[in-house]
Amino acid sequence: MNLRPIQSELFLSLQPLVLVLLDITPMMTVLEGVVMELQDCALPLLREVIPTDKEEVAFKDLDIAILVGSMPRREGMERKDLLKANVKIFKSQGAALDKYAKKTVKVVVVGNPANTNCLIASKSAPSIPKENFSCLTRLDHNRAKSQIALKLGVTSNDVKNVIIWGNHSSTQYPDVNHAKVNVKGKEVGVYEAIKDDSWLKGDFILTVQQRGAAVIKARKLSSAMSAAKAICDHVRDIWFGTPAGEFVSMGVISDGNSYGVPEDLLYSFPVVIKDKTWKFVEGLPINDFSREKMDLTAKELTEEKETAVEFLSSA
Ligand SMILES: *[C@@H]1O[C@H](CO)[C@@H](O)[C@H](O)[C@H]1NC(C)=O
Ligand SMILES: *[C@@H]1O[C@H](CO)[C@@H](O)[C@H](O)[C@H]1NC(C)=O
Repeated sequence: MNLRPIQSELFLSLQPLVLVLLDITPMMTVLEGVVMELQDCALPLLREVIPTDKEEVAFKDLDIAILVGSMPRREGMERKDLLKANVKIFKSQGAALDKYAKKTVKVVVVGNPANTNCLIASKSAPSIPKENFSCLTRLDHNRAKSQIALKLGVTSNDVKNVIIWGNHSSTQYPDVNHAKVNVKGKEVGVYEAIKDDSWLKGDFILTVQQRGAAVIKARKLSSAMSAAKAICDHVRDIWFGTPAGEFVSMGVISDGNSYGVPEDLLYSFPVVIKDKTWKFVEGLPINDFSREKMDLTAKELTEEKETAVEFLSSA
């Protein structure tokens, strides 16, 4: 995606876009169909769509790269083989970003295992700042927000500052200890508003953690609409910043965090974004319940990283 520089948020609705779509060669006719549909949307700001199967075309001078494609898990496939295939893909895309994209490119990884794929892409693109790589946990964030809103009968806009910590998997920790909800014009803590600690510490967390699987079970396909919406939210916030007093969840490099998460992990944290630069939200008190859950998901990511980095040298 190629975004021209914008002057201010006021011009948000005037931001023209050039979309570059990369896929593998056998998918080129399918991609033509996608191009037709994009044209048929009659989007006033969509200036050009460029379908391609060549990395040098796809990554040239990019402002934003959304890496959606990854090797999906097939029946009977070993986790290690899956990881190996993905390391290969993200090493190649990272190297292409390094070679062809702008050095200020913002890279968003969606394809699973998103956190580790993102770390591999970043390690394969040493000339692009690590901070400019992030992975999507906004879908989990939105799921958490929505579950709270549904429970209280308010809109999702009335809920803010939920946090997703860790991996985008069922070990992720949806944390509402610092979340606020607007009840009849008054901002209160979620625990105070819901008054049901056992739900918040039990079913709420499980529902968010297992939501992806629940959608697949019902639809026989994984989340599509909600994932697309989450990507839009994520990219919009990177480009235009987070609203005052609000933070969002993103998988980012853990270097320099103050939450005891090991360095050199792509871990989901609460962040605020301004001038296209994110910062950790600092100083949130972490209770024992949270600590345990944050460490568990960090452990999972550390193990996955170690295996992936081994593959990286041979990929
Ligand atoms: C981390 O999360 C991703 C995304 O859901 C998943 O594919 C991966 O298996 C998880 N890692 C581990 C080690 O479980
Ligand atoms: C990305 O890198 C640029 C420098 O190329 C830097 O100014 C910016 O703050 C970085 N973005 C984030 C999100 O940290």
